[in-house]
Amino acid sequence: MSLQTLLGTELPLLQAPMAGVQGSRLAIAVSTAGALGALPCAMLSREAIGEEVAAIRAQTTGPYNLNFFCHAPPASDAAREAAWRAHLADDYRAWGIDPATIPAGPGRRPFDAEMAEFLREFKPPVVSFHFGLPPAEWLAPLREWGCRILSSATTVDEARWLQARGVDAVIAQGLEAGGHRGMFLSDDLTLQMGTFALLPQMVAAVDVPVIAAGGIADAQGVAAAMALGAAGVQIGTAYLLCPEADTRPVHRDALRGASAHHTALTNVFTGRPARGIVNHAVRAWGPLNDEAPAFPLATSASAPLRQAAEARGSGDYSPLWAGQNVSGCKEIPAARLTWELAAGFDRQEPPCIV
Ligand SMILES: Cc1cc2nc3c(=O)[nH]c(=O)nc-3n(C[C@H](O)[C@H](O)[C@H](O)COP(=O)(O)O)c2cc1C
Repeated sequence: MSLQTLLGTELPLLQAPMAGVQGSRLAIAVSTAGALGALPCAMLSREAIGEEVAAIRAQTTGPYNLNFFCHAPPASDAAREAAWRAHLADDYRAWGIDPATIPAGPGRRPFDAEMAEFLREFKPPVVSFHFGLPPAEWLAPLREWGCRILSSATTVDEARWLQARGVDAVIAQGLEAGGHRGMFLSDDLTLQMGTFALLPQMVAAVDVPVIAAGGIADAQGVAAAMALGAAGVQIGTAYLLCPEADTRPVHRDALRGASAHHTALTNVFTGRPARGIVNHAVRAWGPLNDEAPAFPLATSASAPLRQAAEARGSGDYSPLWAGQNVSGCKEIPAARLTWELAAGFDRQEPPCIV
């Protein structure tokens, strides 16, 4: 079965779910254009998910993907939280923020049994996960309703693990990718590979379709991924400047600027490694820091700094998530970008040598 048949789309192209920078508007534009639009749900309340799904269903007949995180929520650790806030003390002082007034909070919630039950009303065509999979009993109703289930794999072992648990396709997330590493079997970053090293090895190791993600930003990149055995392609960063994305002004400025070419994996914003443009916070506190509270608890400590700086037009404390290849970011409607990327599917055949 082709990936298009599996997903119900015209194109084997997926818009990456991107929590915090997009909602239904981008998903609607992409799904209407023939690819798979996604709604990232990790930072949304159930009410907000309901409203966004209603908007998608009202405005497009195309299929859509609801994306969830499935990390194990960590126990709060007051000593670690205090040590981390002490680490940020110079910045709190510079911005006149009293760290004692900052509420601790998780910031992102994982998929759970209640969420599975909540989805009964919508029976979404596709559900995707980041950081592994939820327990089988929470997935069972989704399978009963006929939802296609996808998850990110950052190593060949993770792809095999996901296949053994019955996913319909795996997303090969190469090291170039923007946002959080979907890694879940090991936290050893040295195991992580670039997209075009990971992809053919994953294709050889599993029987389910493999979707390539990470650093793919134009039709040539799409064609190259397909030539290496991808069943389809998932693209995130290239959509960030589209008018339908909710990318904040400081993030848009950073993506347009020269610094966009310098990204790093950093855990200072959330507690888990994620790729973003290097800014003051990444330089001052990281990029990787063992003291950062466990994901997602690190989110709260930098939130007031981010808010204060953004109010003055500065992205110094914002997570400026972006992949290594920002060359595909264009301020054009998402449908047009989708069609430009889709030209890569016509270029799969090797040139005829006469
Ligand atoms: C701003 C941003 C936010 C992201 N948030 C999520 C998310 O909520 N869920 C998810 O599964 N992946 C998320 N990702 C990762 C993407 O699924 C995908 O792996 C990545 O965008 C592919 O690489 P590219 O950005 O180079 O195209 C995010 C990526 C970016 C750039």
